[in-house]
Amino acid sequence: MSNTGAIDYDSKIPNNVQLSADRALQRALEKWLPQYLEWWQTMGPHGFQDLEVYLRTAISVDPEGWAKFGYVKMPEYRWGILLAPQEEGRTIPFGKFKGLPVWQEVPGEFRATLRRLIVIQADTEPASVEQQRFLGRTAPSLYDMRNLFQVNVEEGRHLWAMVYLLHKYFGRDGREEADALLKRHSGDPDSPRILGAFNEETPDWLSFFMFTCFTDRDGKYQLEALSQSGFDPLSRTCRFMLTEEGHHMFVGRTGIERIVRRTCEVMQAHKLDANDIEAVRTHGVIDLQNIQKKINFHIGVTEDLYGAEVSTNSANAYHAGVKGRFRETAIDDDHQLHNATYPVLKYRDGAFVTVAEPALNALNARLCDDYLNDCRQILATWNKIIKAAGINYELTLPHRAFLRRIGEFANLHVSTQGEVLSHEQWQARQDDWLPSDADLKYLLSLMVESKPEPGRFANWISPPRAGINGQPIEFEYVKIH
Ligand SMILES: [Fe+2]
Ligand SMILES: [Fe+2]
Repeated sequence: MSNTGAIDYDSKIPNNVQLSADRALQRALEKWLPQYLEWWQTMGPHGFQDLEVYLRTAISVDPEGWAKFGYVKMPEYRWGILLAPQEEGRTIPFGKFKGLPVWQEVPGEFRATLRRLIVIQADTEPASVEQQRFLGRTAPSLYDMRNLFQVNVEEGRHLWAMVYLLHKYFGRDGREEADALLKRHSGDPDSPRILGAFNEETPDWLSFFMFTCFTDRDGKYQLEALSQSGFDPLSRTCRFMLTEEGHHMFVGRTGIERIVRRTCEVMQAHKLDANDIEAVRTHGVIDLQNIQKKINFHIGVTEDLYGAEVSTNSANAYHAGVKGRFRETAIDDDHQLHNATYPVLKYRDGAFVTVAEPALNALNARLCDDYLNDCRQILATWNKIIKAAGINYELTLPHRAFLRRIGEFANLHVSTQGEVLSHEQWQARQDDWLPSDADLKYLLSLMVESKPEPGRFANWISPPRAGINGQPIEFEYVKIH
């Protein structure tokens, strides 16, 4: 077995799973490869396929120093099948089989559950590439353009990771699911992506940063829960994906931070009032109100990705040892949830109340709570910047029931403050909480096509604190000229 983490880059499909030892699998994946490349060319980054981009490629799955940086044309990127090393003697950490050795093959009775979880995760990977395909031409800098493309090629690699699992462990159904992953497309009315958030548009860079900050962060929580799985190949796959996910969230979090910083700098220099949106816009930066509305939108649609707060599907997956909790092994309890309860927010008789549900049924609510705690800490770092600039404004998370289409609050209209509204009230006031047509138009007006010079940044965003891989900020991250 491949316990070393060493990657074979000599074969057509780079891998650390000894693909050459399984001829049938190798042939099947080599057949999928041209379909994938065709998808990348038509649905991937638009207009930048021939340029050299300073990208990292994994050369080992060792947690330390796994990346090599260099100029690559994206269609020539070496997408590989990379799993974290197998842990000797790993046992199932939770559920009814807790303590038994992990499975190296799919247990027949959980086959359908596992396949569904893998397909749902897999579908998000190409979806985000499709959502972001037109952003390259309005990149605020070469640094940001490079980060976008890095995220894109790695989402492509995540797709490879999931397709490997489908092909290797799920036979013919798995191969069919792998083909279907290239046939559904984000926002396609006839054949959309599976989850709502992955059919939304990412038309501007604020949306891109919000997506990588908040929706990739959902990915972190889902992958962490899947990396606890008793099905060891899934666990190992997700563990390595998580190391890549860190950079995606960094791009999002620091992207918004740089926008907030720039706005505050301009507001401070011109002594602008926090509520004077028009004055802020006159200076060509993004008003904090618009940032708040985008937060509301992205948090709302991302919360839905956790599914219904109370769910027997997730209870079953946990009981079966297939999908755990966030950092399961670090939690101090029986890991079987006998007699345990978990507080879940619900709307009952005209009021929001907390109900103690059996913990086994409340796993989605718990995972979403873990996620929101993370988000709350990020907002606090942005608020520090605003406060330090002497500006009287605070970014906040919207109420849990805001903008929900799935779960407990799916049929309610709720303000960001938790006021329950009639349909008419919602219609009349939704522009207070979500970007209005005018807000979006203003954002798009800032997204100008340009040929960025090394070291130059659009007016609405601050430069980063440091470059990528120790390179200077003015490094030529994309060879565009
Ligand atoms: Fe991903
Ligand atoms: Fe990601």
